Amino acid sequence: MKPFRLAIFASGSGSNAEAIMKFFEHHAIIEVALIISNKENAGVIEKAKQFDVKSLLINKEAFYQSRAVLQILQSHGISHIVLAGFLLLVPDYLIKAYPDKIINIHPSLLPKFGGKGMYGMHVHRAVITAKENESGLTIHLVNEHFDDGEILLQVKCAIETNDSAETLAKKVLQLEHKHYPRVIADWVGHS
Ligand code: GAR
Repeated sequence: MKPFRLAIFASGSGSNAEAIMKFFEHHAIIEVALIISNKENAGVIEKAKQFDVKSLLINKEAFYQSRAVLQILQSHGISHIVLAGFLLLVPDYLIKAYPDKIINIHPSLLPKFGGKGMYGMHVHRAVITAKENESGLTIHLVNEHFDDGEILLQVKCAIETNDSAETLAKKVLQLEHKHYPRVIADWVGHS
């Protein structure tokens, strides 16, 4: 068992989770030990299987009303939590149990286009509608508010006049796959 064990929380297709599992597959001290999803048909469940990583489905009500998820994390020896397209607000009991040990990626230059309801394509559509000339990604620590903790990295990309929400999403996602795994490695290494 490696000294640092990550749980990835994801609700969607899981392309970031995949990039992270690939990056840490043969890492010396960090491993992805668990995938947690709140969506039954999320692509991330299939990706976990491909990497032989255990996955677990959680129920939204139970997530907020009981501490079963915390017990599961502890029983798996999870040291750090990585949010990768996870759409639920992290409950206080998890933030208290993992202080500065929960990280998130957001597909805009926070604080712009962040907050409740701002996720995935909603973000990119809002950025295009606002006629921004740049967007990008933000990697930050998680606190009790949506998209609000200490920022560890922002990476920008230009928006061309012919960009749509879809082409912008692709550009930002590519940057996410490139930067998120190495930022996680640095963060875990310094914690
Ligand atoms: C990513 O673009 C991530 O930044 C975003 O959801 C997408 C998940 O894609 N997260 C948020 O919007 C959080 N507010 P993936 O499932 O392919 O990794």
